[in-house]
Amino acid sequence: MEKKFTLITGASMGIGRALAEECAQRGRNILMVALEGPELQTAATEIAQKYQVEVHPLGIDLTAPDAPLQVYNWSQENGYSVDMLINNAGFGKGDIMERVPLVVYQTMLRLNNQVPFELTYHFLPHLKQQKQAYILNTSSMEGLMPMPFKAAYTSTKHFVTAFSLSLREELADTSISVSTLCPGPVVTNEDGLKRIQRSGPKAKLVVMFPHQVAPIAINGLLRGKRIIIPGVVNQIMILLNNVLPLALRMRMLRKIGSAIIPKKEV
Ligand SMILES: NC(=O)c1ccc[n+]([C@@H]2O[C@H](COP(=O)([O-])OP(=O)(O)OC[C@H]3O[C@@H](n4cnc5c(N)ncnc54)[C@H](OP(=O)(O)O)[C@@H]3O)[C@@H](O)[C@H]2O)c1
Repeated sequence: MEKKFTLITGASMGIGRALAEECAQRGRNILMVALEGPELQTAATEIAQKYQVEVHPLGIDLTAPDAPLQVYNWSQENGYSVDMLINNAGFGKGDIMERVPLVVYQTMLRLNNQVPFELTYHFLPHLKQQKQAYILNTSSMEGLMPMPFKAAYTSTKHFVTAFSLSLREELADTSISVSTLCPGPVVTNEDGLKRIQRSGPKAKLVVMFPHQVAPIAINGLLRGKRIIIPGVVNQIMILLNNVLPLALRMRMLRKIGSAIIPKKEV
């Protein structure tokens, strides 16, 4: 039988690495895509050894022109048959809009939106040939509720959510299931951990770790869930968000958003 692979972008650390581990644990072979560097190579070696699956890393700057096409060509030239595509690489930056250099936003828009769109575009014909295939797009809770002071990031994640939801319906009569992952805050590095340890009990209610998010994400994906929101408190927040009047909701979100920037600057 032909070997199948799960391709994950941003797989060297954070949520992507946890998704790679979760898939490997389930016996899936992995194609790990991230920036070139020791983290990627180490992660690939560790996962291959620990779970005894095939793991192939590809170090590439996904924001470079044609990088998504290069990823697709790499998989085809090496004969890797992909039946699960996980578009996860992305980053966010929150502040008063004009304080962040434009180039940061340009990179964010490319990595968070154009890259998953183009990867999906290139892989779709290949995925349609599979008996059963899956696409998981990592959005965010901020892809379900517009977050003031993170205007660019929240907009990129709304794009991801809308793209996933609409593509899912377009592919409803095919063998491809599309799911959208909408995590709340996830601690992915030491700084984040220290911030959470310093913050009050309310923050701890919503914060999760990558190893908690990953099994929920892959279970949801394999069950064909439309939107996957890890964490009960986060699910309740989204439910409330959906029923509150828009003006009230946005005032509340402004308070939450303004907490991420220095008070005197608001
Ligand atoms: N963390 C959260 O609180 C949170 C919450 C909701 C949604 N999300 C979303 O979840 C996804 C993963 O976030 P994370 O916090 O786990 O990220 P992370 O820990 O910063 O990891 C980002 C991953 O993306 C890779 N990457 C970054 N820029 C790249 C580029 N130009 N080309 C190729 N690979 C690149 C990194 O590779 P290198 O390691 O090689 O640099 C790394 O593997 C993102 O889409 C993010 O928006 C995160």
